Amino acid sequence: MIGIVLGSGLGTLAEAVVVEREVSFPDAGLPDSSVLGHEGKFVFGKLGGRSIVLMKGRLHLYEGYDPRLVTAGVRWMVAQGVTKIILTNAAGTLNREFIPGTWMMLSDHLNLTGTSPLQGADFIDLSVAYDADWRSEFRAAAVSSGMVLHEGVYAGLRGPQYETPAEIRMLATLGADAVGMSTVLETIQARSLKIPVVAFSCLTNWAAGITQAQLDHREVLETGKQAAQAMICLLAQVLGERSGARN
Ligand code: HPA
Repeated sequence: MIGIVLGSGLGTLAEAVVVEREVSFPDAGLPDSSVLGHEGKFVFGKLGGRSIVLMKGRLHLYEGYDPRLVTAGVRWMVAQGVTKIILTNAAGTLNREFIPGTWMMLSDHLNLTGTSPLQGADFIDLSVAYDADWRSEFRAAAVSSGMVLHEGVYAGLRGPQYETPAEIRMLATLGADAVGMSTVLETIQARSLKIPVVAFSCLTNWAAGITQAQLDHREVLETGKQAAQAMICLLAQVLGERSGARN
């Protein structure tokens, strides 16, 4: 079974799923997620003929949750039998070639949250955090369907405030292509459980200072909604291709 975590504004992805059953966050031992655009439930069903569980809504550090709670959904899905995880998020783009409304597959990340979901001596290797073979499959599927799919580095910050232009210049210097407030801790958690991960950023806006525009959470949600269809097609294509496979 594949676990898919949906980011801000990407809830319409759930409409492509043939639903079998739902479990609310509280029933899974998680707190209710509260932010605008987040629902807080797990949806079990089929997508592209494959068994999946969607995590609709997620918990963020900026809501005040500690890193263990932020990643509790990943551990719960793995306990339910998830063997691979797809993470999605909304992000600002600071790569001038990656225009808002397109998607970026994460080649790597910068964990700038200052924290980790791992406790104790969990010295896990993250030299290939995002699964190379799975990324190749998505890359090939995007090419064959004519979908624009960028690849780049995601900087994960704590938030909740958007960045300043000076912070965005710093992130660009550090090698980031996109910036957001999720995903990195979930990736670390999944990798510590030996679960392969791929992640996708819906580039909803130019990062601060790239243009004169001010950042608006509603705009982020709206762009996410519009771009969700391309990701639905890509997921259905890749998951459908190996519908005979076990996981
Ligand atoms: N910065 C941080 N997080 C975000 C952004 C952004 O510009 N857009 C969507 N999530």
